[in-house]
Amino acid sequence: MASLNEIRSTFLDYFRRNGHEIVDSSPLVPRNDPTLMFTNSGMVQFKNLFTGVEHRDYVRAATSQKCVRAGGKHNDLDNVGYTARHHTFFEMLGNFSFGDYFKENAIPFAWELLTRDFGIDKSKLLVTVYHTDDEAAAIWKKVAGLPDERIIRIPTNDNFWMMGPTGPCGPCTEIFYDHGPSIWGGPPGSPEEDGDRFIEIWNLVFMQFEQFEDGSRRDLAAQSIDTGMGLERIGALLQGKHDNYDTDLMRSLIEASAHASSVDPDGPKNVHHRVIADHLRSVSFLIADGVMPSNEGRGYVLRRIMRRAMRHAHLLGTQDPMMYRLVPALVAQMGQAYPELGRAQALITETLKLEEERFRTTLDRGLRLLDDEVAKLPEGAALPGDAAFKLYDTYGFPLDLTQDALREQGRGVDTEGFDAAMAEQKAKARAAWSGSGEQADAAIWYDLAEQHGPTEFLGYDTETAEGVVLALVKGGEKANGASKGDSLTIVVNQTPFYAESGGQVGDTGTLRTETGMARITDAKKVAGVFLHIAEITEGEIAPGQPAVLEVDHARRGTIRANHSATHLLHEALRRALGDHVAQRGSLNAPDRLRFDFSHGKALSPEEIDRVEREVNDFIRQNTPVETRIMTPDDARGIGAQALFGEKYGDEVRVVSMGDLPGTGKGRNGSTYSIELCGGTHVRQTGDIGVFVALGDSASSAGVRRIEALTGQAAFDYLSQQDHRMAELAQELNAQAGEVLERVRALKDERKKLENEVAQLRQQLALSGGGKQAAPEVAEVNGVPFLAQTLEGVSGKDLAGLIDAHKDRIGSGAVLLIADAGGKAAVAAGVTDDLTARVSAVDLVRAAVEQLGGKGGGGRPDFAQGGGKDVAGAPAAIAAAEAVLKGA
Ligand code: ALA
Repeated sequence: MASLNEIRSTFLDYFRRNGHEIVDSSPLVPRNDPTLMFTNSGMVQFKNLFTGVEHRDYVRAATSQKCVRAGGKHNDLDNVGYTARHHTFFEMLGNFSFGDYFKENAIPFAWELLTRDFGIDKSKLLVTVYHTDDEAAAIWKKVAGLPDERIIRIPTNDNFWMMGPTGPCGPCTEIFYDHGPSIWGGPPGSPEEDGDRFIEIWNLVFMQFEQFEDGSRRDLAAQSIDTGMGLERIGALLQGKHDNYDTDLMRSLIEASAHASSVDPDGPKNVHHRVIADHLRSVSFLIADGVMPSNEGRGYVLRRIMRRAMRHAHLLGTQDPMMYRLVPALVAQMGQAYPELGRAQALITETLKLEEERFRTTLDRGLRLLDDEVAKLPEGAALPGDAAFKLYDTYGFPLDLTQDALREQGRGVDTEGFDAAMAEQKAKARAAWSGSGEQADAAIWYDLAEQHGPTEFLGYDTETAEGVVLALVKGGEKANGASKGDSLTIVVNQTPFYAESGGQVGDTGTLRTETGMARITDAKKVAGVFLHIAEITEGEIAPGQPAVLEVDHARRGTIRANHSATHLLHEALRRALGDHVAQRGSLNAPDRLRFDFSHGKALSPEEIDRVEREVNDFIRQNTPVETRIMTPDDARGIGAQALFGEKYGDEVRVVSMGDLPGTGKGRNGSTYSIELCGGTHVRQTGDIGVFVALGDSASSAGVRRIEALTGQAAFDYLSQQDHRMAELAQELNAQAGEVLERVRALKDERKKLENEVAQLRQQLALSGGGKQAAPEVAEVNGVPFLAQTLEGVSGKDLAGLIDAHKDRIGSGAVLLIADAGGKAAVAAGVTDDLTARVSAVDLVRAAVEQLGGKGGGGRPDFAQGGGKDVAGAPAAIAAAEAVLKGA
């Protein structure tokens, strides 16, 4: 018996042999379709190839595509577990032609694979065609030799496939397998067609048209092929089973669930194992593709599926979380075909464990409340909406979980009442907000949040994505359109643009619709709504249009590097300076990073050097940067650094990087940096390139600031420093390594020369090099008095000169005035034998007054002062003489 893994390989090998490129499954979150919640068929990733917008270097492809149908239009969630063929996750095998072959090849390929490679009995097969498609019917007749009654013409949309209300579409032919008369049911198109006897196994779509919103269609330039065959269905058929859950792959998961819960896989609780087996696949693959449980959008669908599975795990009687224990069984089955599953195994395990631990804390109480409420109801009555809302709001029961729980009792839920209770809660929240004193112009964003819900951020995983324009806001008002030259804010349903927060600046880039183009110069968020600050650069843009949003990749790349480097810097500072280091602010811009932290004094060069080295060590370690979601308490429990001033919700993103040497890979003590952070990061620390700290400065009291560069900017900076050093060396006629020694020698030499100059000046002054002739010693009132005005002598030189003159004359008074570029410095000296009669201070004070100054001071034997105007020098000398005369 071929396993599902072998059947998948046989399918892909067959088409590879027939000239098809084997293309990897695209992620479950569609990058190229703004309207789809999850990838729900094989053609999603090729949508633009069918319409001719995109071209690739192959025209034939085959895939095994991961698909999720839960939430949105194709919602299989309600039935999963209870039926033979409903799944939230399935694999769609498909072959595709992009303007290459059409019906004439698609039909023979399918027939040959089914009847030859898979060996299915031809007599059990029958097909449907669209009622007007004579061509397909003729090909079936010719290729398969099917009699007319086994080529059934269907006049309904069952045989006209459309991916959604718009997009590529066309008539299709479906291949059915007849399980024989022992099972009830009729052929397609008959009143009994919903029975289980005739099972559709493969749908071949002849892509011929493109449908537009107004319902009109155009012919596609090239006719194409899109086919889809559920692996679980064909697998069941080839393994002789009637129920998809009996295939080897699903069975192994059911057995893992039975093993983990010690509950018989085939007993009365079998439905719980089936739900768990199915949901384990969808939640694991969604987490691997970047979806995280939340209370909005895709994250909420994931949470609903997880919680539904967890209630069924609880119904199996398990006391402890069990879903996460099944992950190894899933990876063993599917990890080879989908390597992303193995790569995300740790993340899947932890996310499941956390969710189940948390949910179990309220599950029992919620179920008790449900029992109490139900006990009050008459037989078969629906649960009132407000009870369902309370279960949702207080106990975390998604509506469909409550519905699922009541289904077993044949009861429904008053969903209108539930919606009304939800609307009332939102209205209350809004009223609370309006009273909170926020700016009135924010009201428009709250209105948009209420109308459309928060913007879904796709930018952790992609920098290009499609979205739908929900609103244009110009000058604070909603606008119906905008054209070239307009500046405005654009709101879309989902975006790869990071909105400024947590120190990381908003992304820039472009937004393109069919009719116009806008330059996005910044992105911000209010009330969960992302505001794309834009200028229309071409044509027009209108609400309702699908748009391609593309982030400026190079700019985002450097922002990511700077943000990750900030985390490493934070940890390095903590280790170098102590646990008191806490983040006080940060900026992660494209050109640089800035980190403010609590620390009382400037960093020494050694400390900066140590920090810089450590950051670069972890960059070179080049280990993956990991992101997980957990409760704030758990995050703190593993030592995560929380950001100053941030408010945290029930869940936080935790970003970890760096393995501490000697501890091997792991967490809890062996991870270098663990921080709560909503920003975008590099994949591997090596992507940061290199880190250079530009030094530290004071930011405010007790807060230091480090600015730093990474990657190309750091390299440019280092290279510029290098060039400067080379210039310096050249100027000094030295090797770079000798520059310091040479500069020290120059400084020594300068000092020596300065001393020599000072001595020479003194000698010159003493020998009459002044402005006046060599000073004569005059007798004033019996005191020998020497006075002189000097040029080229600084105020600092005067003291030495006064001493020299005093020595020379032996007894007397000296007054020297230095001409300091128009200003005057003055000093006076009196030999000790005369200080009782006359004070140097009096002489200076009298002189200073004439020099346009004030004061002056010192001791009786030496005093000094200064004035604004050296022109008063003769008067100053005269004033000093007058003092002597009075002595
Ligand atoms: N796209 C087609 C389907 O999903 C093949 O059935």
